[in-house]
Amino acid sequence: MFSSAIKGVGHYVPSRVITNEYLTQFMDTSHDWIVERTGIHERRFFTEGVDTVSNMGTKAAQMACERANITIDQIDLIIFATLSPDYFFPGPGVLVQRELKLKNIPALDIRQQCAGFLYGLSIADQYIKTGLYKTVLLIGSEIQSNMMELSNRGRNTAVIFGDGAGALVIQRAEDESKVLSTHVYADGTNAEELYMPNPGSSRATRLTNEMLTDGSLLPVMNGQAVFKEATTKMPAAVLEALEHNGFTTEDLDLLIPHQANLRIAQMVQKQLGLRNDQVFNNIQKYGNTTAASIPIALSEAWEQGLVKKGGLIAFTAFGSGFVWGSALVRF
Ligand code: UT7
Repeated sequence: MFSSAIKGVGHYVPSRVITNEYLTQFMDTSHDWIVERTGIHERRFFTEGVDTVSNMGTKAAQMACERANITIDQIDLIIFATLSPDYFFPGPGVLVQRELKLKNIPALDIRQQCAGFLYGLSIADQYIKTGLYKTVLLIGSEIQSNMMELSNRGRNTAVIFGDGAGALVIQRAEDESKVLSTHVYADGTNAEELYMPNPGSSRATRLTNEMLTDGSLLPVMNGQAVFKEATTKMPAAVLEALEHNGFTTEDLDLLIPHQANLRIAQMVQKQLGLRNDQVFNNIQKYGNTTAASIPIALSEAWEQGLVKKGGLIAFTAFGSGFVWGSALVRF
């Protein structure tokens, strides 16, 4: 059986920087409240006519291919994770395929929200392990700024989420550098603790005039319930990954947690007893970019020289579904 390895990573974020101060024009909030509760200082919002989920994903993918030193035509499969596709259908996978001028390869769109990257990595890993594909492009990209409302009723989500894209090139491993394990889970019991009900297909009329004004087009989040579950499931998933491979937290060079909230990441760090230099966070600059958050963070860690040959890096995420998991990678 083959193994897979992460060969390149890239990211793209829209140029429009949205500070906490900017948000105070539209809702009762403050820079200090946002920083204290979430750690976020600023995030990026897309520009209509410039950025789309698929074109941001394509830009991130091009960077990942360059860094992996591969040509675009080596890609055998595209996996695209997003909760905010360009169209209701088809998904953005085929749009990236078109932009990259790749013909007759499969393009798979997945959701899995904040765990989209982990699920995508686990799928890529399985395809490579069986020998069916050699090179998989995994993209996580989101435009969330236009699904939130900059208002008092929308403030619990509006201060958290941002836009951006990250991408990975995953290839058949040729040496010790490999994906050691992926563990992904779901529990739909709490699906409605973080969800976006409308416009949904279960209603006779998907979109009504009332929905445009009554707030029912906004995401619904029970922040405290998500927080509590995330701080339990994420450290447990990291420990599972380490134990599965015969390692302890001391062996870990870096943990890149999904960038949901800096306080969540800090609690995960504390529960695992990790030093500050063992955990990478960049939520301060980008907010929570859902499926894009881990690949953007990995790309920045890569740029900062923190992803070293032979380094042991863990990823963990938790999000709407609930879905969660971990991955352990030897670089
Ligand atoms: O990737 C997964 C995505 N989601 C998450 O990870 C969310 C996880 N949860 C969280 O990040 C936090 O629960 C939040 C940041 C959403 C909220 O922080 P919190 O410490 O749990 O605050 P809270 O919901 O308990 O609200 C505390 C107070 C409330 O006022 P009262 O009732 O105490 O008077 C809220 O109305 O803060 C108020 N509040 C705000 N105040 C200023 C809620 N949102 C805001 C806001 N600015 N944006």
